[in-house]
Amino acid sequence: MKTINLPLDSALRDRSFLFGTATSSFQIEGAADSRLKSIWDTFCEQEGKIADKSDGLIACEHVARFKEDVDLLQEMGVDAYRFSISWPRVMQQNGELNPQGVQFYIDLLDELASRGIQAFATLYHWDLPQYLEDLGGWLNRDTAYAFQQYVEKITQALGTRVQAYATFNEPFCSAYLGYEIGVHAPGKTGRKQGRTAAHHILLAHGLGMQALREHAPHAKNGIVLNFTPCYPVSETPADQLATIYADEYINQWYMQPVMEGSYPPVLEKLAPEDKPDIQPGDMEIICQPLDFLGVNFYTRLTYSAAETKGELYTEHAHREPKTDIGWEIYPQAFYDLLTSLNARYDLPPIYITENGAAMADKLVNGEVADNDRIDYYEAHLCALSDAIDAGVNVAGYFAWSLMDNFEWAEGYVKRFGLVYVDFETQTRLFKHSAHAYKLLLAQRS
Ligand code: NOJ
Repeated sequence: MKTINLPLDSALRDRSFLFGTATSSFQIEGAADSRLKSIWDTFCEQEGKIADKSDGLIACEHVARFKEDVDLLQEMGVDAYRFSISWPRVMQQNGELNPQGVQFYIDLLDELASRGIQAFATLYHWDLPQYLEDLGGWLNRDTAYAFQQYVEKITQALGTRVQAYATFNEPFCSAYLGYEIGVHAPGKTGRKQGRTAAHHILLAHGLGMQALREHAPHAKNGIVLNFTPCYPVSETPADQLATIYADEYINQWYMQPVMEGSYPPVLEKLAPEDKPDIQPGDMEIICQPLDFLGVNFYTRLTYSAAETKGELYTEHAHREPKTDIGWEIYPQAFYDLLTSLNARYDLPPIYITENGAAMADKLVNGEVADNDRIDYYEAHLCALSDAIDAGVNVAGYFAWSLMDNFEWAEGYVKRFGLVYVDFETQTRLFKHSAHAYKLLLAQRS
């Protein structure tokens, strides 16, 4: 069986470097009848939104099978597990906790603790309660304050069981995919909508950090951002400038407010009617000290000067080689990203909170020989190791994902898991990549 090989002197071979796997609530939990409806339930009900017409009602039946899933984590030998708390599962519409939903996470956390696995909990991984969307969702500033109240309540209920909290997972996806181009829930469109949603999510992050500092001072608290490094298709000044705009619009739009309390210069390129409504004091709230920065990395994109009037850049299709979801495999961008963030910002310790690949897995004679995924992990872990050698402070790495699950608008067809899930029978099976990951973790000194 193929293995993941790292340089002999790699910092990742030291046991002090934390390894884990990641999931999120809507993608795995199922048990939709014991929680409020979320914007993703509504989105899935709409014709043509999900490639395979599926939904999250059953998913991986994780609520019923969480002990079995913690067995998988223990078998893999991970130090930590990153999951998300479903806001619509733990809160009721009247603003009170839902005791049954809270109990599920207490049971999960106690199970993790009993196996010596650290818990990294994300407080928002895209499943906004639908009743809040009915009030405007992230276009409504009040949602940021509703988030803060949810954080206050759930953190107190969970006590000291969580070792690290992230306020948000990938605000870019919630704001841009969900409210600007409409390919994710709630499916709204427009530049003003996207930028407004982003601002309110960032505000909610700042308010959430304040609540975490008060109610979860024992935990490491931060945020998870996704980055898609941007490269120009040529060295012409016009293509290079467009690439800077793209990077500011899709990446730094989230990073710079969180780290430095200001939006990047591309804000001034927007028409006045497209700018978010920034109230006095907002940027100070957004820019809170962080115990860690979570970085999600999958791929890069290339850009050239805008071809359409009113646009800032032209984005090009992914190049070969690609994963099964069509994203270019380009590990150099992982190194470039980490070293450039380190040069540009005064960073807290970084955790790689997601990295992984969808591959066209084939189950043959009870085995999934996903050598392509093993190659992806090896190349990216080597790039990460090089970035650490170059001086970037990275404390841990989470593979996306523990198991195959609901891949949003792609449904269940795109498989990111280390563990194969047969969605007919809910059987779990270690792919070869899971065995390789386990061996890598076991061989640390
Ligand atoms: C980003 C998201 O956080 C996660 O939910 C998703 O499944 C993976 N990346 C893969 O697209």
